[in-house]
Formats: sequence, structure tokens, C-alpha cells
Amino acid sequence: MSRWSVRVDPSWSVQAWRGAARLALQHRVAPDQLDWLQDGDGSLLDAPALGSLPAPAGEDAAISVPGAFVELATTCLCHRDPHRHALLYRMLWRIVHGERGLLTNPADPDVLRSMALAQAVRRDSHKMKAFVRFREVPGEADAFIAWFEPDHHIVDRVAPFFARRFAGMRWAILTPARSVQWDGQALAFGPGARQEDAPRDDAREELWRTYYANIFNPARLNTRMMQQEMPAKYWKHLPEASLLPTLVRDAGDRVQEMHDREAQAPQRRIPERHIPLRAPATANGDSLDGLRTAAAGCRRCPLWEPATQTVFGEGPRDAQVMLVGEQPGDAEDLSGHPFVGPAGQLLNRALQELGIDRSTLYLTNAVKHFRYERRGKRRIHSKPQVTDINACLPWLMAEIEQVRPKVIVCLGASAARAVFGSGFTLSRDRGQWHTLEDGTRGFATVHPSWVLRQPAGPAQEEAYQVLLRDLATLADNSSTAVSTGCTR
Ligand code: URA
Repeated sequence: MSRWSVRVDPSWSVQAWRGAARLALQHRVAPDQLDWLQDGDGSLLDAPALGSLPAPAGEDAAISVPGAFVELATTCLCHRDPHRHALLYRMLWRIVHGERGLLTNPADPDVLRSMALAQAVRRDSHKMKAFVRFREVPGEADAFIAWFEPDHHIVDRVAPFFARRFAGMRWAILTPARSVQWDGQALAFGPGARQEDAPRDDAREELWRTYYANIFNPARLNTRMMQQEMPAKYWKHLPEASLLPTLVRDAGDRVQEMHDREAQAPQRRIPERHIPLRAPATANGDSLDGLRTAAAGCRRCPLWEPATQTVFGEGPRDAQVMLVGEQPGDAEDLSGHPFVGPAGQLLNRALQELGIDRSTLYLTNAVKHFRYERRGKRRIHSKPQVTDINACLPWLMAEIEQVRPKVIVCLGASAARAVFGSGFTLSRDRGQWHTLEDGTRGFATVHPSWVLRQPAGPAQEEAYQVLLRDLATLADNSSTAVSTGCTR
């Protein structure tokens, strides 16, 4: 029986593996006749390379396999297990030789093993998304580097997530085996790096620790889950890790305090405002209130200074629909509540016409401070810059994470940029449903202020109808119609 070898380079690439597997199938090389090589490996038995053979005549290059297998293989290949290429080829061989339904047999040892590998890769990818912490590059504006040590070859797989989420920043993620950079336009992959190549600490970490301490809810503390979700090996990446021992130790007392305060509190809860940035962490009863408190002291961009206050989102914490505006206007800045000025009134009119109950919605803004220019005594709205939107993004992301809406509606281009990324073009993509990484669906429409800026008369009416038609999809969408209290 002749033996052959094939090399997969890079070892996690599904294209590279597929090319090698196709070649092996065309030459009818059985799984036990093939050595799979990766990186600098040599063939143990000096088997000649399959690629040195001429392509067999008359073989059909197209091999049809179930989509689920391709997906499974793509994920499994990111695992570090040196036997994964052979395992997948054995499964492919079985699928094309009569066992097309192989994946539907969960008791099959190959299926079981491949599922376990894929699960480990998915888990590692999740950890990378959750635990990468960027640090500012000293001396460079808006440039960030993170150091991370994944268990598997997941950098290429996860990088697009960071490109979408931090589209407006320049950043790099360094890992021991591979690095990736984003320049605001494209991802570029390179070799691995050393931890010393990444900055160790930056000024934002203090703000992050304040934020974390505020959203930490002692009543929900489950140390077993916490250790499972945040294994010790990731702690070194996390600025908040230094807080954990104290937060965990004091959790019992803080829960008691919360109960005592709740018992004495007046029925209506009034969020605290003007909390200084370095306020000690106080128990706030729930995480949205904690976020609001922490955001009240936010200094991530210069907008806080001329503004009266942070205008945080409002609405039920289990709202199924979140509306994201651009930034508070003059009335919102003074009152501290979103959408209470002229644009808010126009929005109310549209919601009423559609039978959507505003009180069922969570309303917030991409930027939480009023950006304006002074003209005499008047404060004139000035569009937020990309740096303002990026600086405020962690708050919006945290709100989305807390509320977990089913649907996000972006009002205007700034909100759409914050939620859908820099590739979004309102004139092109308006009114179309999109699905975010975590499954949340959403669309963008025009901002009510844009409607108000149109010349009064038919042009304004036309613009209003655009807003109305787009928002009507909310009322028409069966998954959200009920949860918006829609009466139409
Ligand atoms: N415009 C917005 O985008 N948000 C508000 O809260 C008010 C006006």
C-alpha cells in the first residue's frame, strides 16, 4: 500500500485543507494512506508529497458535501489538535463514500470529536471577543494595541468582529503566533509578537475600573460561574481583575445594604446624577443604573466639559426595541432625558400614528453629551465627530448588552455608524434589516431632526413619510409588534 503526504499551510485555513483533501480524493488516497503535515512537520515515513503527482485525468474536481460539514471543518481547523486534518479527511471520505448523513449521528466517535474541537474553538473565540483590552499607543492619537494569548488559531476568525466593532480606530492585536492590524480600512495579518511589544497600561484603565465597579452587581455574584467564564489565565489582560477580590469579598455586605436601602427608598427611583468620576463604587441595584452612574462622570472625550450633563438612555431594562439617536440636543442637555426636544416630539408623533407605545422602547443616543457651537446666547447643535462616536461606543455597547433588545433602530447616520460600523451608508442602506454578530436585528432610518430641517410644506411632509414608513416595519414585524405595544 503506497503512502502519501500533504501539507496544509496555513494549518487553520479551510481553503488550504480543502485543496489538499480534494487532491487526495481525486487520487483515491484512503485516509489511512495519508500523512497530514503542518507548519515545519516532515512525514514520519518519508511519504512522497501528493502534490508531485499529475492530476488524474477525467476526475471531476467538484465534490459536493453538506454545508454543515464545511462549517464544522472551518471551525475545527482553527483548533491546535495536530490530528484535526486527518480526522476531517476521514469524515469527508466517509461522507463521499455513502455516509452522507454522517453528521446526524451524534454517537459517532469522529462526529463527537469534531464537535468537541469546534466547541473549544467557539469558546476560545468568545473569550477573545470578551477579554481583549486595547491600550493606547503612547504618543499616537487614536491608535491602540492589545495583547492576547488564545488557545487556538482564532486570530483570522475573530479579527472581522473587532474590525466591525472598532471600525473608526486604528488598532492591532498581538498574539504569540499571529498578529492583526486594522488601519480603518483593511485588516492586515502578520507574524506573532511578544507581550513587551504591547503597551502595559493606559489612563483609560482607571475609567474602565470605575465603570466595572459600578456595573458589578453583588446580588448576581456567582463565583463558580465567574471562574468558569473568566478563567484565571485571562486575568492578566483585564484591568478590572485587580478589583475582583475586594468586590467579591464585600458582595455580601453590599447586598444587605441594597436590601436595606430598597426597604427605605421612595417608590419611584430617581437616578443619581453628577457623580464624580472617581466616586467610590456604590451598589446601584441593577447594572443599567450602575452604567448610568458611571457614565455621568465620563471624561472619554472633551464633550463633557461644555455640556450640562451626560444624557443616558432611558426605558424598560427588558425593552425589546432600542432606538438609538445621534446625540442629545439643547433640551435634552438641560433636562437630562433623551428625545424631549423638537426632534423627540416629532418622533412621538410618528410613534403615536403607528400605534407604538413609546414607554415600551429603550431610547438612547450614540453620543451622550450635547456637542454645540455658541452663537451669541444660542447653542447650535454641531454634528458629533467620529472620535466622539468612538469614545462613547463602550457606553452604547454596554446598554445593548444590558437591555439585549431584539431590534435596534438607528435614527440617522451617526447612530447607524455606531451600531453597524463605518461601512454603513444611510442613503444606500436605509430601511434594510441587518443582523448583528450577536443575533440582534436592526435597521436605520432618517433622523427626526433631518425631517425638521426640510423646508416646511410638501418637502417636509415627504421626509416625514420616509421616517414613518421605515418605523412602520417595527409595527409590521411580527417579532416586535407585540412588544412595542402596537395597537395597529
Ligand atoms: N436628537 C437625538 O439624536 N437625540 C436626542 O435625544 C434628541 C435629539
